[in-house]
Amino acid sequence: MTILALETSCDETGAAIIVNGQIKSNILASQAKTHLKYGGVVPEVAAREHVLSIIPTINLALKKAKTKLAEIDYIAVTKGPGLMTSLMVGVDTAKTLGLTLNKPVLPINHLEAHIYANVAFDKLRQHKSLIPERSRRVKFPAIILIVSGGHTMLVLMRGHGQYKIIGETVDDAAGEAFDKTARLLGLPYPGGPHLSKLAKNGNPHAFKFPRPMINSDDLNFSFSGLKTAVLYEVQKLDSRFRGNGQRGKLKANLAASVQQAIVDVLIAKTEQAIKKYQPKTIMLGGGVAANDLLRARYKLLAKSYQLSVSIPPLKYCTDNAAMIGLAAHYKLLTTHYPDAEIVRSRLRPKRRSKLPTKTFVADPNLALA
Ligand code: KG4
Ligand code: ZN
Repeated sequence: MTILALETSCDETGAAIIVNGQIKSNILASQAKTHLKYGGVVPEVAAREHVLSIIPTINLALKKAKTKLAEIDYIAVTKGPGLMTSLMVGVDTAKTLGLTLNKPVLPINHLEAHIYANVAFDKLRQHKSLIPERSRRVKFPAIILIVSGGHTMLVLMRGHGQYKIIGETVDDAAGEAFDKTARLLGLPYPGGPHLSKLAKNGNPHAFKFPRPMINSDDLNFSFSGLKTAVLYEVQKLDSRFRGNGQRGKLKANLAASVQQAIVDVLIAKTEQAIKKYQPKTIMLGGGVAANDLLRARYKLLAKSYQLSVSIPPLKYCTDNAAMIGLAAHYKLLTTHYPDAEIVRSRLRPKRRSKLPTKTFVADPNLALA
């Protein structure tokens, strides 16, 4: 089963080839440099960049995987959530290819793909817990913390494709909190990785930032207050920031303290969810899952409750097309398309009537369901 997967939900143009659940290629044309001068993603600019990059990215993915277009069985594409005009480039490209190649196009939820990044493996590292062929060994229920630039949510998964959102942010996402506070510290876009790098030289206890909603008795998050607290602190310190030799140290301390506050909340809420839902596995997903401190603390949390833990390899945390293809692969294997009970691992699309027939459109607000 060969899948060409496309991802264009935000500012990365991605194309990947997945053959029988293995990543044969995963190409990313990043627009980070283009958006750098604006300090954030400009949707119209992002869409134009996707238009320019999508075909060369697909060609490169095919070439690297030594695969011909004629060998593709399915085309998977991010349907949403994301930026509407960016999504439309991927969806329209996928539909056009589907029409010309006479192959089915599978709409994929970007958040579900962040979850299924957990089945990506590098070299010998294999995540067995989610492999459907070994479904008797799947350790459900699982709890997944999805932390990206646009979303922060805790998801309870009782089986493949069965999602219940048990908590989410009431305002900013965790990635947004990283990006916005990084900007206050004068760090370039995208702020998360820069802030986390700077934090390595800082004292995480130097500043006492709020941990919003950490003690609330639901599983929701709030990060907008943190941003305001950092703004006040930066303003207070502005005179010290300007000029003296402590500037670098103060910035590193601020970065480390912000990171600590965000990660403390994420871990505390996941722990509350563990106590409430008694999962067997906990997983991470989304761009912020690339954060070193969060990865380390998440593993410790799993250990202290003796749970299985799964965290995607770094390059599959931030947006990429491989995770879209993997989500499609596992959806086909685990019967989440209408016809899927006949689907097995050596699935070939035989008759068009057995495949999803409904047409679809890009959906910027697509929910995880
Ligand atoms: O999943 P993603 O690539 O895109 C969305 O779906 O939003 O997530 C991007 C977010 C950005 O906010 C970025 O700053 C954050 O992930 N991020 C990080 C790190 N790497 C990426 N945040 C903290 N530490 C990192 N190392
Ligand atoms: Zn994402």
